[in-house]
Amino acid sequence: MATTVTPVSNGPLMVEGEVEIVDAQGKQLPAKGDPIYLCRCGASGAKPFCDGSHKKIGFQG
Ligand code: FES
Repeated sequence: MATTVTPVSNGPLMVEGEVEIVDAQGKQLPAKGDPIYLCRCGASGAKPFCDGSHKKIGFQG
């Protein structure tokens, strides 16, 4: 199955399918389910994952 990345309107990137997430040092981060949601607003306190902060800041995109 191919991995799919879909931007959610005014929200995160939704990643469906098998994916490995690593930090800047290459350490593997636990994927939080399938799909996972990656922050694209910059406001998350749990980067690279979305924590819902995009709603608080009124992110549009
Ligand atoms: S996209 Fe949700 S916190 Fe940034």
